[in-house]
Amino acid sequence: MSTTSELTRLREFLNELIPSEDQLVRLYQNFCAQIRKGLGSKTNKDASTKCYLTYVQDFPTGNETGKYLALDLGGSKFRVLLIHLKGDSEAEQITKIYDLTERELHSTGVELFDYIAKCLHEFVCEQKVDNEHMPLGFTFSFPCVQTGLSRATLVRWTKGFNCSDTVGEDIGLMLKAAIARRPGLRIDMVAILNDTTGTQMSCAHRNPSCNIGLIVGTGCNACYTEKVENCERLDSKYKDKPKIIINVEWGAFGEKGGVDHLFTDYDRTVDQNSINRGSQIFEKMVSGMYMGELVRLILLRAVNENLVFAQCKLRKHITDILTKKPHCIETKVLSDIANDRGDDWPLVKDVFKQVFNLNNADPDDCMKFKFICDVVVKRSGNMIGVTLSGLVNKVGESFSVIGVDGTVYRCHPNFDGYMRETLDRFVDKDYKYDMMLSEDGSGRGAALVAAVVHRDYMERKSLNAKLRQ
Ligand code: BGC
Repeated sequence: MSTTSELTRLREFLNELIPSEDQLVRLYQNFCAQIRKGLGSKTNKDASTKCYLTYVQDFPTGNETGKYLALDLGGSKFRVLLIHLKGDSEAEQITKIYDLTERELHSTGVELFDYIAKCLHEFVCEQKVDNEHMPLGFTFSFPCVQTGLSRATLVRWTKGFNCSDTVGEDIGLMLKAAIARRPGLRIDMVAILNDTTGTQMSCAHRNPSCNIGLIVGTGCNACYTEKVENCERLDSKYKDKPKIIINVEWGAFGEKGGVDHLFTDYDRTVDQNSINRGSQIFEKMVSGMYMGELVRLILLRAVNENLVFAQCKLRKHITDILTKKPHCIETKVLSDIANDRGDDWPLVKDVFKQVFNLNNADPDDCMKFKFICDVVVKRSGNMIGVTLSGLVNKVGESFSVIGVDGTVYRCHPNFDGYMRETLDRFVDKDYKYDMMLSEDGSGRGAALVAAVVHRDYMERKSLNAKLRQ
């Protein structure tokens, strides 16, 4: 058994990863200041959270009907969907997943979009809808400056994507051009949206109180509904509708120093080893792409300081693996082992076997490993709870529903609770909130945006016809 002093030493060692109340308060204040800057027309250029206008101003009623196509690009897989909205908040969908290899992730933009158009073409032929000229919503989960619903200029790639000749280009035009290069493919791309927007829309489809969308997966980001009068950058012609969804792009928070007080050497190393150094700082502290790496770096130092595996015969071998094999601990592990209650540590032992080829690990080392993983996940959940509180308070509704999606949120049994710990402390007492798991926000949300765009178009058309009579 570990002595109490050993555990106290490990806790002290991990202390810098356990935010204090004061540090969380500072995080809250810094984040709110960045949101204010992001919204202001003069201050936006200095903001880390750019608060992009999405031009999504119409919300689902639940009565949407019709067939729509959706594309979903933004994680490790690329998906094409055929969605049938049936009214009464009901929908049916057929989804096909296509692999994205390193080749596509690092190709040229033209190659990437040709691949997407090829998959789309195969899909509509397989589903026998190639003659139907359907509206398509494109979930493209990267920071974009939008100038309308179907116009989006890519600002930067994140999450390990890095295709050349794309940054600064209009993604909508690139997709349309790739579709046009395929004879026989007739698709009407009506909207480009972020996965957070899709998540908010798909939850709003079932519950109109949903005014925030959150993703905690490979990447991390949120969006929320803002009053148009608070959007200085929005052209007055869009101000006849009362609200608009803002894509916060909070993954970039911290690029101007907002999280320095919580940044550790481990975070610094994760950033230094990434392909986008200095960018997406908040995302690198909290999202699925990086949490496994944080655990690897922490464990390595803990082993070197004789805090874990001190008596293990394979200690040297474990250190070698941790040193030489970046990403040897996947973030999925953090969720898997959270369910290990520690009777005989079967789940942690399984990980040790897979990663280090270690059999019969010492129960104390299992417990310590679980503790390290938990500290990293809890820091993420607590930090996200703080930034979410900033949005709940900004929305200022007596009751807000937060639509959530992403593998970390879905798979980790304690993540929801860790977010609530800080939400309960930072959300203004006059406001209530709840969280709602999204049903495939990236797919259904894209179809819903396509549907509300279509509805708006039909309404305007009939109004014009009446005016002409
Ligand atoms: C992107 C966001 C996206 C988030 C979640 C981030 O890396 O910048 O646009 O919403 O990942 O997928």
